[in-house]
Amino acid sequence: MTARIIDGKATADAILNEVRGRVLELNASGTEPTLAAVLVGDDPASMAYVKNKRRACDSVGIRSVLHRLPGDMSQSALLELITELNSDQSVHGILVQLPLPEQINSHRVIEEINPVKDVDGFHPVNIGRLVIGLDSFSSCTPAGIIELLLRADVRIEGQHVVVLGRSNIVGKPMMNLLVQKGRGANATVTVCHSGTRDLATFSRQADILIAAVGRPGFVTADMVKPGAVVIDVGINRVDDASARRGYRLVGDVDFDAVKDVAAAISPVPGGVGPMTVAMLMWNTAKAAQYATAEENSRLY
Ligand code: GUN
Repeated sequence: MTARIIDGKATADAILNEVRGRVLELNASGTEPTLAAVLVGDDPASMAYVKNKRRACDSVGIRSVLHRLPGDMSQSALLELITELNSDQSVHGILVQLPLPEQINSHRVIEEINPVKDVDGFHPVNIGRLVIGLDSFSSCTPAGIIELLLRADVRIEGQHVVVLGRSNIVGKPMMNLLVQKGRGANATVTVCHSGTRDLATFSRQADILIAAVGRPGFVTADMVKPGAVVIDVGINRVDDASARRGYRLVGDVDFDAVKDVAAAISPVPGGVGPMTVAMLMWNTAKAAQYATAEENSRLY
């Protein structure tokens, strides 16, 4: 069997088109959706991610404002900036690119963001709302994976989904989205992590396997049930002297081997990555909409 490729780029483009329409409607009612992006230090991967996100903003008509700050800045200075952005009515979404330098406690910084501007969906209020099934800003990668599965006509309801990885950014929100009642959820969820004994026993039971462990090629063909759907969340840089930049991006899944076992698989690049960015745009348009809606005060 050769797996169907789940095209994240095409799906993300479709979502970006929808967001473009929402932005035009907001513009017509006098709102210019705006994302404040905060980048601390000069980590090359973070710089690339932020550049990508701002490019997506440009493409859908969202205004983006970049706050570039030195890697040795203090936590209190960063908290001050967040306070300013919280009270700036022209800013609808705040994105603090992670990871932050070690002198800064990222939990503290995330907690400072007004939850209605937390377009990353990392604030404890949004995580808590997600867990109990209230409207929230969902973390972009897990929300993007649900959209990707739905738009690829992959049934989620009643399926056994195995999530590999328990990070706050992917694994934990992913499992909480999947167990909710309703469309695009209602799954039976197993979460495996570095403390899991005999992980392959679980991964082989997955109808849908979501790999978010941050280890290149971690999922091998023998870990996948024939006919499963495999979603690869990994974005790992591996050295490659023949590549233009000296490295290439590979996922957490051994793509070449797993594609012969799975029914469908998302590639890296071109799978989950573009969906994360598209969902960030979606959340920013939603934040701008909430800022203008009366119901906002009831929601949060
Ligand atoms: N670092 C890795 N992924 C993400 C993300 O989705 N959002 C932010 N802000 N930082 C990240």
